Amino acid sequence: MIRFLLDGEVIEAEVEATDSVLDLLRYKLRRTGTKEGCAEGDCGACTVLLGDESGWRAVNSCILFAPMLDGKVLRTVESLGGDHPVQREMIARHGSQCGFCTPGIVMSLVGRSIGASGTEGVPVGDVLAGNLCRCTGYGPILEAGEAVGVRAQEERLELPARAWPNPATADELAELLLANPETRIVAGATDVGLWVTKQHRELGPTVFIGDIADLRGIEEGDEALTLGAAVRYSEARLALTRLHPELGELVRRIGGVQVRNAGTIGGNIANGSPIGDMPPALIALGAELTLRHGRARRTIPLESFFIAYGKQDRLAGEFVESVRIPRPSPDTLVRISKLSKRFDSDISTLCGAFAITIAEGVVREARIAFGGMAGTPLRAAGCEAALTGKPWNAETVEAAALALATDYTPLDDLRGSAAYRRTAAANLLRRIWAERQDG
Ligand code: FES
Ligand code: FES
Repeated sequence: MIRFLLDGEVIEAEVEATDSVLDLLRYKLRRTGTKEGCAEGDCGACTVLLGDESGWRAVNSCILFAPMLDGKVLRTVESLGGDHPVQREMIARHGSQCGFCTPGIVMSLVGRSIGASGTEGVPVGDVLAGNLCRCTGYGPILEAGEAVGVRAQEERLELPARAWPNPATADELAELLLANPETRIVAGATDVGLWVTKQHRELGPTVFIGDIADLRGIEEGDEALTLGAAVRYSEARLALTRLHPELGELVRRIGGVQVRNAGTIGGNIANGSPIGDMPPALIALGAELTLRHGRARRTIPLESFFIAYGKQDRLAGEFVESVRIPRPSPDTLVRISKLSKRFDSDISTLCGAFAITIAEGVVREARIAFGGMAGTPLRAAGCEAALTGKPWNAETVEAAALALATDYTPLDDLRGSAAYRRTAAANLLRRIWAERQDG
């Protein structure tokens, strides 16, 4: 059973671990204002607002599992009552178009109007990047969003007691996984959710780690930034931006606000996807991963976690506890480039990350990693060797760009051909050189 608050009423519902919040709303609670468009976290038609200790955040209810609602407060489009300032502006400016996208758009704008997570100081266009409208009427919607002011979040939310059985601490999680190593670990469910909605997979025993406080720490030190495995992208964004602005920009390109409000950096790593957005950047910066198995911990370089496609260096019952990202030195040139078909809210075709330390015109160290170029996120050993110890000049860069061809056997799929990926990867390095010459 789960327990949550909806418009002031405590709701208790019997659910399965992988029931979606969207289905719970539509089929059990008959709140059909929230719509299903894509069922994969892309379109935002299913956007709802979720409140807990960290305040309000807009999330996609189609890939949010019902137990992730336990002990929280929920607001749906029905909660607005039809006369919310956002709804008034949407009507006045003819922003209300089809019934599928509009409720989700309204909820995203309501999130912005209360300063919900991931919307602070963010332009309306970015807040709506995770809400797709196929009839292309964005102009009036953006105007409606601009017209509604932003006020601070409400005071602390009153939360109902949790009812879903789940570990509350990292110690309890470690014990549970030791005893039941086959348990599926779910953090933000932005990927695992699709295994259920799109592939109709049975997940088996499941544990939810998104609310485990011990895994939600953000420690900014002089030497490094350490993020707990359950820190969400939106929460990490500022600290990552302070570590290096390129990291903040990368986070802005990961999904839409709703996805960044659910997805975690630990999940992005643990899942081992060859096109996960963060691993190439974190590998280039020399990040280390701490894994925990029972009471034992081990720390490994992030790149060694990815063994082969679908295979990570993780024992049964072991889990990612935190990732530590060293602060780059001022003479390290950091560039991160994500190439995807759409600028916003899209999956990488290719992501290249470069950390090149140059002193007195000579490359002292080069750490270069790509996603989308092999079965795992992978360092470019040949390219790095072609740079290291060499003068930082056009010849060196060209030789290193050509070396990339031997470093990778790129993926060849609907997002891009192998030839495209190979050419684009080399050009990303050439671009770094060209930009430096432009001053
Ligand atoms: Fe498209 Fe949920 S239905 S994001
Ligand atoms: Fe639904 Fe444009 S509002 S397609």
